[in-house]
Order: sequence, then structure tokens, then C-alpha cells
Amino acid sequence: MKKPSFHREDGFFYINKEELMDQVQIFDTTLRDGEQSPGASMDVEQKFEIALQLEHLGVDVIEAGFPVSSPEQFRACRLIADRVKDSTIAALTRSHEKDIDAAADALVNAAHPRIHTFISTSPVHMQYKLKKTPEEVLEMTRFAVRYARNKAAEVEFSPEDATRTDIDFLCQVLDVAIQEGATILNIPDTVGYTIPGEYANLITTIRERVPNIDKAIISVHCHDDLGLAVANTVSALNAGARQAEVTINGIGERAGNASLEEVVMALKVRKDAFNLDTRIDTKQLYPTSRMVSTMIGFPIPRNKAVVGENAFAHESGIHQHGMLSHRETYEIMTPESVGREATRIVLGRHSGMHGFRKRLAELGMVIEESEIKKAYEAFLKIADRKKEVYDEDLYTILSEQFGSTADSLVLEYVNFQSGNTSIPTATVRIRDHEEVYEEAATGDGPVDAVFRAIERALGSDATLVEYNVQAVTPGKQAIGETSVVIEVDGKRTTGRGSSTDILEASAKAYVNALSRHRLLKEVTHP
Ligand code: KIV
Ligand code: ZN
Repeated sequence: MKKPSFHREDGFFYINKEELMDQVQIFDTTLRDGEQSPGASMDVEQKFEIALQLEHLGVDVIEAGFPVSSPEQFRACRLIADRVKDSTIAALTRSHEKDIDAAADALVNAAHPRIHTFISTSPVHMQYKLKKTPEEVLEMTRFAVRYARNKAAEVEFSPEDATRTDIDFLCQVLDVAIQEGATILNIPDTVGYTIPGEYANLITTIRERVPNIDKAIISVHCHDDLGLAVANTVSALNAGARQAEVTINGIGERAGNASLEEVVMALKVRKDAFNLDTRIDTKQLYPTSRMVSTMIGFPIPRNKAVVGENAFAHESGIHQHGMLSHRETYEIMTPESVGREATRIVLGRHSGMHGFRKRLAELGMVIEESEIKKAYEAFLKIADRKKEVYDEDLYTILSEQFGSTADSLVLEYVNFQSGNTSIPTATVRIRDHEEVYEEAATGDGPVDAVFRAIERALGSDATLVEYNVQAVTPGKQAIGETSVVIEVDGKRTTGRGSSTDILEASAKAYVNALSRHRLLKEVTHP
């Protein structure tokens, strides 16, 4: 989609709004509000990498940080403004001169700089946080917007806690901001208090009552305290707002902000209802989501819309049957459209014979119709015990049915030595039927040393793709369960191991994965 063009008036830039009639500007605040999530701080280099990805994703505005708040914040904003040229770069300020000076300095080399200045306008914030009267807040707004406009071509103004602000006062503040040259007026639902119809009405009222509102773009910024951030955002867009402030994976203060991927996909999938477009390359949504999640160490909930592990996974027999007959029975968008791999038919205890047979065929396991029923019964027994039945479980079922033996490799012992002054070293002994292999290796850490010793002992060249540890019993003597995913010749196999010793559990899981890989080869190439 085409980027909006600008025109100059009185020396300042204005977006050509008529081009925005059916286009929503995506303002990403992952690096500012998102970073305010407890535990989500990022260093300068991480922020820069995310900014490059956001530019690639097609984000219109990247809020790079709050420069006055710390030297690190300043450096990150500066670096992003220096290097990211496709997106507008915004920097946040309170209504103070020193904040605005810092933002202007950080944005000095930006191709499209924007100063985003805010001040609280709700009674509770003015009285208890600012300790200012409404008149003083009005004057501070006038000063901040005017001062910022002399420092940057584009100014956005936010009356913080707008949704709990007196409507007459809100309109007055917005009027002042426009008079002083703000061209983007953000209406934050700072505490996630509003509800969709009410927020839409607020936008309509602002459009009707604020003089010269057509000179500005109305922006929306929603927090998720009641789980309504995305609903509120799209509802306000429907009422005429044309900028959505969002974050990747919905990270942000407290319960977070509206999630970028959900807002963008809601507009795309329900184009019939909104008739609004964005410039986002939706195929970059999943990679961006993964990147942010891994960088800040916040796992994506399995059931998260659009990017969660289960978002395109179908387990129940009825759903699987429907999906196999016609995808649109249970999917409103394709996983490919958000940059994910194809739909997963997950086998579990709700799966029917249809899904089971289809998965076997996909794995190249063609078995007689007469044998299928028996295999399906064996599958149901496993499915009753496990949340999800993996491909390797299917191989095990079939190999047992057709006489192959599982777990041909047995870990006989694992020893390790590690400490803060020695190089981690591990020795393993593995039995493969009559043969016994013993090897030692060093590694970057004890787990790495154990895995390398196993690899060396078996002459394998598997790559470790995933490694997870969790305690399955409470207390000091907790049993740790380790699961690994390895890749050999492009095929992935999982393995599991448990022990009160994490390193032993890890070694068992790795040997188990190699054993299963071997089995998989036997079943597909008998
Ligand atoms: O939630 C909020 O009000 C904010 C403002 C600074 C825009 O993040
Ligand atoms: Zn916010």
C-alpha cells in the first residue's frame, strides 16, 4: 500500500488527509509503552534490531522511546532516528522544556521526526499526580505544543487519561493543541477503562465539537486492563480515528496495549465491516512477534490470537473433519497470511479417525485399511494419557504394531564436571543393543557438554532446536522433566527425559530424541 504524502503549510508538514480516508496509520509503541511492561526492558542494540524489523513490517510510526528518561533511552532513540528512514520516528515527552529538547536532539537526524508530548487531563491525575489546576494544564499544553512545533516538523499531543477526562475540558485542551499546531491528537485510554461503544462515541463527539479537528488526525491508544484494548481500538477506528497506537504481542504497562497483529488482522479479515487498510506486510507479523517474544523473554500464550501456538491448530474430531473438507469451515484467515507455516492438525483425544488417517498419510505411513482401526485404538490409548500426540508417537504406535522396537539407545551413565573456574566437561556411556559407546566432551555450559558428548559417542550430527526444562513435582527434590527437539536431515524429533538431576534429565531427553529419530527412519523407510 502507498505511503501517505505530506504538504507544507506555514512551514510545517501536514499529512494529506484525503488520502487517509480509508487508511489507518499504524503507530507502534513496542519500544516505548511496550518496554514499560514490567520485566520487558531492552538494551539499545535490541531496540535497534526491533526497529529495523518494524520498518520491514511496514509500520508508519515507530515510537522509539522517552529520551529524557535515561541516557540509554536517548541513545536508542538517536540510533533509530539516525538509521531507520522509512518510518516516522516519534519520541515521547512530558510538557517540559527539557523533555522536548532531549527529544529534538534524539530526533535530529530522523527523516520524518515526530515529537509526541503529553499531559494528564483527568481530574484524578490533575489533582493527585500533577497537582495542577485545569487552567494550568491548559497553559502547559499551549506551551508544550508550541515549543515542540518549533523543534520538529510534526507534533502529536496526548491528553493522558482522556477517557476519564471531563468532555468539555477535553475538547478545550484539544482545541488549544490544534491552535498551537499539533497535527495528531491522541485520545489515550490510559487505564483501560473505556468500553467499545463509549469510546466510539467519544471519538464522534470530538469530531463534532473540536474546532478545526479536520486539520488533525485522531489517534487511539488503548490499554488492556479489561481485555478490551483491541475491541476499543477498532471501534474508535470505525468512528473516524485514523491512527492506531499498538504494540507487538500487546506488551505494555500493566495488562498491556492493544496488540498490533490483532488490530491489523481484524481490519484485514473484516474489511467488509471497516473498509480500512494498513500498510502492514501481514506476512511479517509472526516473525516480528517471535522476535520480540524471544528478545524480551516473554513467551507468547498458546491461545493468543494470530500468533499463538494454537491459533491455527485444530484438535477436535468435528473441527478436523470440517477443516479437511473445506478450510473455511473453521479458519477465517490462513496461517500463511500472517507468515506462519501451514495449519496444524493436532492429534489429541478429541481427534477422529479422519484426522488420524490424514496425518499418517502426510507422514508417508500408508497402512492397510484393516490395520487402521487397530492403530487408531492404540492412538486413543496414548491420547487419553497425553495432551498432544506427536508424530513420533505415531511412529511408535505403528512400529509396535508392526514389530519394531522403540528406544534402541539406552543411556547407561552420564558424568559431568562444572564450576565457575573449570571448563564444563561431560562423559556418557550409551548402549545400542550389543554395542556400547563411551565419549567425553567439553562445552559452553554443562548441558552443552552433555549433548556434545552424546553426539560424539553416536557419531550423530543432530541440531538442537528447542530445549525446555520444567519441574513436575514440587519441593527441593523436584523431578525435572526435560524435553528437546532435534533436527536431523531436515526432520524434527522430540525427546523427553526426567530425573531429580536436570543434567541427567537432559541427557535422557537427547538420547530419547535420537532413538525416536532412528525409529522414524525405520518406519518411513522400512
Ligand atoms: O497510556 C497513555 O496514556 C500513554 C501516553 C503517554 C500516550 O502511554
Ligand atoms: Zn500507554
